[in-house]
Amino acid sequence: MQGNTSIRENLIWQVEAGIDECIAEAPIDRFAETATKVAERATQQSAQPAEQQGSAKPGVRSRTPEAIAGRQAPTPPTSQNSAPERAVQSAVAAAGAAKSIAELRAAVEAFEDCALKKTAMNTVFADGNPEAKIMFVGEAPGADEDRKGLPFIGASGQFLDQMLASIGLDRTNYYITNVVFWRPPGNRNPTTGEIAACLPFVERHIELVDPEILVLLGGPASKTLLGMKEGITKIRGQWFDYATAGLSRPVQAMPLYHPAYLLRSPAHKRDAWRDLLEIKQKLS
Ligand code: URA
Repeated sequence: MQGNTSIRENLIWQVEAGIDECIAEAPIDRFAETATKVAERATQQSAQPAEQQGSAKPGVRSRTPEAIAGRQAPTPPTSQNSAPERAVQSAVAAAGAAKSIAELRAAVEAFEDCALKKTAMNTVFADGNPEAKIMFVGEAPGADEDRKGLPFIGASGQFLDQMLASIGLDRTNYYITNVVFWRPPGNRNPTTGEIAACLPFVERHIELVDPEILVLLGGPASKTLLGMKEGITKIRGQWFDYATAGLSRPVQAMPLYHPAYLLRSPAHKRDAWRDLLEIKQKLS
C-alpha cells in the first residue's frame, strides 16, 4: 500500500514538473550529451583565428533578458557575462551568419544554449510558405508540435487554420513560427531567458522572410517583438511598425489573440474576427 502511494505521488510530482510523457524505453542523459558538445565546440573554437571567435554580426540587435523585459540598452559582450548573456551573444553570432532560411534552420538546430532544447524531442522551426506575404509568430510548441517538429498542428493550430481559412489563408500562402523553437516542459510559459536566447534567430527569421505583414499571436510574442508592456487586450487589432537593422523598411505588425486563448475564452472570438477582417483588407 505504502509502495503504491509513493509511486503514485512520484508520478504526480513528475507530471507537475512537466515530465508528462514517455518518449523512449531507456532514459537519455541529455546533460551528458551537451557536455560533450560543449567540449567539442571549445576545441573547434580554440583552433579558429581570434577574430572569428564569437563575433556578433554588425547590424543585428543583441538583447539581454533584462533588455527584452524592460527595453533597456543591451549590455556589451564581456568575458564576465552571465550564462544567459553568453547564450544571447552566441545566438546573435549564429543568427547573423545565416544568409538563407535553410542556413538559419541549420543554425537553430545546432544551437545548444537554450535550456528548452534539453527536454524537447524536436526543434520546431517553421511551417508554411516562406515566400508568403504574411508571417505569423506564436509563443511555443506544445506536445503535438514537439512530437512532429512542426508548429501549430495541435488543437490550437487546427483552430488557427480554421480562422485563417475564413480569410482565404492556408499554409501555401502563409508562414508560421514561434518565439521559441522548443517545447517548454509541461507546456509552461517560456522564461524571459529562454525567449532571449531564441530572439536573435526569430528576428533574423523575420528579416530573411521579409513579409509584408507580421501577425503576433498572443501576449508573449507581441510583447517580445514589439517591446511593449501593455497586455494583448489593449494592443490587439492595432498596426505597429516592426523594424530591425536588417529589414529594408518597417513591417506592418498586428497583435492578435492567441488561438489557444480563444478556445478557452470564446467570448473574444468576435474581436478576433474583426481583427482578421482588418488583416484581410490589408493583404488585398
Ligand atoms: N501554440 C503556440 O504558440 N505555438 C505552437 O506551435 C502551438 C501552440
